[in-house]
Amino acid sequence: MADVARRSLVIAIDGPAGAGKSAVSKRLTSALGYRLLDTGALYRSVALLAQRRSVEWTDETGLAELAGALEVNFRFDGDVNRIEIFGEDVTEGIRKPEISTGASVVSSLPMVRQALLDLQRNLGKSGGVVVEGRDVGTVVFPAAEAKFYLTASDQVRAQRRYDELRANGEEVGFESTLSEMRERDERDSQRAVAPLVQAEDAILVDSSNRSLDEVVEEMLRHVRSREVALA
Ligand code: DC
Repeated sequence: MADVARRSLVIAIDGPAGAGKSAVSKRLTSALGYRLLDTGALYRSVALLAQRRSVEWTDETGLAELAGALEVNFRFDGDVNRIEIFGEDVTEGIRKPEISTGASVVSSLPMVRQALLDLQRNLGKSGGVVVEGRDVGTVVFPAAEAKFYLTASDQVRAQRRYDELRANGEEVGFESTLSEMRERDERDSQRAVAPLVQAEDAILVDSSNRSLDEVVEEMLRHVRSREVALA
């Protein structure tokens, strides 16, 4: 195939928990040779730090201070996007259910969101990056060259989350996973600042009844045409 000029893009992938954002983002990242910025991991890191340093999840000023001072590094190890904060690997620690809840709570606080905004923009500004989260296409990178809103039914999303937690040895039930996820969805989409919402110019992708391969293929086709069109 002849070489075609391509531009390295910022690709925004937003959507609710369990829609498949992480799996899709990893596949896109490796197919395109891009970097992956998992913005949820930043909110999770703030929640983890707060728990360790006994900062209450309601202490907005204290949490914003933690967020503003966060030193973070992502690196791929096989297909795991590992995260280090202050040089310590917290990849597993930030996935615990209580940290999921904490991240959802701290992410509803405007000062925390503001404190993480510059960090996210700095990490993504050079392009060639897939950025996954809730407000990437609406707030963090409103000028992203490719935007997707990935979703799936709540039953499907809860089943995926349940399987993932069980595989990690967590003793959880399906019903509690479903109800925690619905609570989290509610909080994420009802908050006053940067709620979870589809950007007007984002492509809606429903992964409920489709394989990962099909979803990734559709997204890759779109991204590749944008890379060429914008070169
Ligand atoms: O994607 P995740 O489950 O790792 O995200 C953890 C929490 O952080 C989730 O409740 C929503 C919040 N979040 C956010 O508010 N904005 C983002 N850009 C990413 C995550």
